[in-house]
Amino acid sequence: MSEISVEFQNVTKRYGSSIVLENFNLVIPKGKISTIIGPSGCGKTTILKMINKLIKPDGGSIFINEKDISKLDSVKLRRNIGYVIQQIGLFPHMTIEENISVVSRLQGKSKRQLSQRVEELLELIGLDPSQFRKRYPFELSGGQQQRIGVARALASDPSIVLMDEPFSALDPISRVQLQKELIKLNEQLKKTIIFVTHDIDEALKIADHVILVQKGKIVQNDSPTQILERPKNEFVREFIGQERFPSKYPSETVINVKANGISIFNDSPISKVADSIQKDSVEGLVVIDHNQTYLGMVNINELKNHLSENQNLQVKDIMRTTVPYITPHTPVADVFSLLEENEILPVVNKEKKLEGVVAKSSVIQGLEDRYHKEEVI
Ligand SMILES: Nc1ncnc2c1ncn2[C@@H]1O[C@H](COP(=O)(O)OP(=O)(O)OP(=O)(O)O)[C@@H](O)[C@H]1O
Ligand SMILES: [Mg+2]
Repeated sequence: MSEISVEFQNVTKRYGSSIVLENFNLVIPKGKISTIIGPSGCGKTTILKMINKLIKPDGGSIFINEKDISKLDSVKLRRNIGYVIQQIGLFPHMTIEENISVVSRLQGKSKRQLSQRVEELLELIGLDPSQFRKRYPFELSGGQQQRIGVARALASDPSIVLMDEPFSALDPISRVQLQKELIKLNEQLKKTIIFVTHDIDEALKIADHVILVQKGKIVQNDSPTQILERPKNEFVREFIGQERFPSKYPSETVINVKANGISIFNDSPISKVADSIQKDSVEGLVVIDHNQTYLGMVNINELKNHLSENQNLQVKDIMRTTVPYITPHTPVADVFSLLEENEILPVVNKEKKLEGVVAKSSVIQGLEDRYHKEEVI
């Protein structure tokens, strides 16, 4: 099966004499979060609305799962595409339950099916069904309403979800929380999410791919780390605010090193370690000796595989010693490169004693914290 979910081929869109998109080409991978970011008026909303046929191109073709959408029925197509807009668009006179199931109801689902789906979706987005299903939108906070918008977009279990600046009206705290929840949600659901935003921090934080658009053209389409590390031109550098991501800074100044609950001793039996991992749902662990010296890494899958073969092994028998480590003085640019291939990197001091770990998310969070600190000063 193809890994491509949506593809634009030479798409052109004009309004009168003004050209919004010209020979626009874009490939969106399946099951990932792609963010489209660019200045106001550059064509982001137009791109999204072309995917669900709310706007028709003047030239070129758009494919979903390799099918030319101009040949597909719009109503059926939209059933497979969730859509979340900034102004949420909940119906004020309907309860949350009715709002979520409004489309499915039109599709003739039974009451029991609808009710069960609402329950599932509310749980998925972290709102207690018994508390929320009978409430009206005005009885919810902005962030909760936004969650309902997401739940509604997911109601018919679409494979693609379009999100047009869905969190921009929220306060920074709810916004960050919803960003985190979206990432978590999609690790589970594996939808193709196409997320439009103005906010570069948001784009970098949630995306597998960031698509930077300027005047209807893609300037750079890359992973967040690539965008940060290798901005293609001045426009990108300006957009990400290069001054705040200077690669010459040693990582200690910009990276949050997490120190809790991440290390295990090389002589621990793997059966014991596997238990504690499941409890804390930790993804990867750093192996140290009793002097805190870094030795290697193991992850859950490796542990489980070995556990099913031989219960008597110790951590040191199965650890990987090839994972690169960094020090607090490793330049940020190098940390980015290493994180392309490793989810987690151990941080050690001069004596190779473990100080903590960094993960992709903590790098970006650290950069932001620094930025905000500098702003305040
Ligand atoms: N119905 C329309 N008629 C004429 N021009 C339009 C229409 N819709 C959009 N445009 C123009 O097309 C361009 C792209 O609009 P679009 O809404 O895609 O921008 P955007 O990137 O989503 O901007 P924003 O970040 O402000 O939401 C803009 O210059 C806009 O003025
Ligand atoms: Mg827009």
